[in-house]
Amino acid sequence: MKKPSRGVRKSPSAPAAEAAPRVVILAAGVGSRMRSSLPKVLHRVAGRTLVEAVLEAAEGLSPSRVVVVVGTDRERIASTLAGREVRFAIQDPPLGTGDAVARAREAIGDGDGPVVVLAGDTPLLRTETLARLVRLRREKNLDLVFLSFRPPEPGDFGRVVRDGRGRAVGIVEARNASARQKRIREVNAGVYCFSAGALARALAKIRRDPVSEEYYLTVAVAILAAAKGKIEAIEAEDWREAWGVNTRRDLAAAEEMEHRRGVERALDAGVTVLDPATVRIGPRVALAPDVVLHPFVSLEGRTTLAEGCEVLSFTRLVDTSVAAGAVVGPHCETEGAKIGARARVGPFSRLRPGSELEEDVRIGNFVETKNTIVRKGAKAQHLAYLGDADVGAGSNIGAGVITCNYDGQMKHRTTIGEGAFVGTDSQLVAPVTIGKGAYVGAGTTVTQDVPDGALALSRVPQVNNEGWVVRRKAPKTE
Ligand code: UD1
Ligand code: CA
Repeated sequence: MKKPSRGVRKSPSAPAAEAAPRVVILAAGVGSRMRSSLPKVLHRVAGRTLVEAVLEAAEGLSPSRVVVVVGTDRERIASTLAGREVRFAIQDPPLGTGDAVARAREAIGDGDGPVVVLAGDTPLLRTETLARLVRLRREKNLDLVFLSFRPPEPGDFGRVVRDGRGRAVGIVEARNASARQKRIREVNAGVYCFSAGALARALAKIRRDPVSEEYYLTVAVAILAAAKGKIEAIEAEDWREAWGVNTRRDLAAAEEMEHRRGVERALDAGVTVLDPATVRIGPRVALAPDVVLHPFVSLEGRTTLAEGCEVLSFTRLVDTSVAAGAVVGPHCETEGAKIGARARVGPFSRLRPGSELEEDVRIGNFVETKNTIVRKGAKAQHLAYLGDADVGAGSNIGAGVITCNYDGQMKHRTTIGEGAFVGTDSQLVAPVTIGKGAYVGAGTTVTQDVPDGALALSRVPQVNNEGWVVRRKAPKTE
């Protein structure tokens, strides 16, 4: 009797599940073409270092391990990647990309499953493209699949050589290419997915290039092709994605491409971008429909903008979340902040890390907040410093109010109760609490807690000296 089948049965053609990929990122090159004391892979595109950008694309594959090959600059690269799930392999001196992968062999470990090899200098790479390579390799059981692209100028990129039947049989570095090969427009992106076995076989056979004396990983293609291996090169859908950075010009071009890509992503997500040429949107920014971005806005880090919010000109938001319907006015600077629904911020506001504005809050011009929660509907419209504070719902903070949070050694908190009114030009010397619904008269220096519903006042009594001006101006008599 036939057993009832459990679950979905695989069709005979469906490829078997495979182990998660292992990833190697090559970052040991000297990068001399950048003319910089900073390691090449630590230069930034749209706020991310090149190596982090590549790493983040790789992380999207849920790899079982990631090995970063580093050289003389290992300490600086390791400290940039501190706290991330990576292992390091050392290649010193740098003897070429093939040698770099060989140096990573131990860290890659044994086992099957694909090995994805990436150059650390291709910051525009997307996870989707890597996943495409991994999928294709699995489906066709390839020894190697690598990414090619067609930039407007093939420049110094390695040329992809195909045989009469269109099969990829080699990569020729520009400096080794014949005049005819130089005219090939399809070039190598430096993005490879190998079967573990094929990688090991190829590495064992890579010899030094006679011209540069380096071990070129690209030679693996010819080695595997000669052994009748199954190789494919697939072309990037968007050539910009495969762009490699070797020079400052390349870096500037990458920045421009990333910038344009951010704007295109925003437009596709339903965002109105009033002046695409001047708006900057980083690769980690998340945007919802009906957001409106005015000219010269810069959205950086892990900034998220919910539906219908508006950001006005010359405002820079870094790692900031903005809830639905909030408006961030012109000339604001925020970092590590949360802006609640329908809040109004700016113009000229500065929200520093740990600032949290709840719904309907208003923060106006020349107001600075840091490590402060401003609760529902509270207002600080002009010229204030709110640091290490908890500002109660519906309270009103007058112009010139300052939390004196620092005593020269320690920071202290200020707590302002719900519905409190803090008059203009008051100093709140922390630690201090203003009670619910309490009033602080203008010009008060609050040094003691103010009970709920009380009025706090500390002023030098005013003196009016009648007729003083006339007397002063009167001609002096001897
Ligand atoms: C490489 C490819 C080229 C391809 C291009 C794509 C080779 C030989 N050539 O050229 O076909 O078109 O990338 O961008 O691979 N690295 C090491 N150790 C080394 C040398 C390099 O870790 O000894 C690292 C670098 O830090 C860099 C990456 O490998 O992140 C690529 O090296 P790079 O020198 O930039 O190669 P390209 O000349 O751009
Ligand atoms: Ca390169």
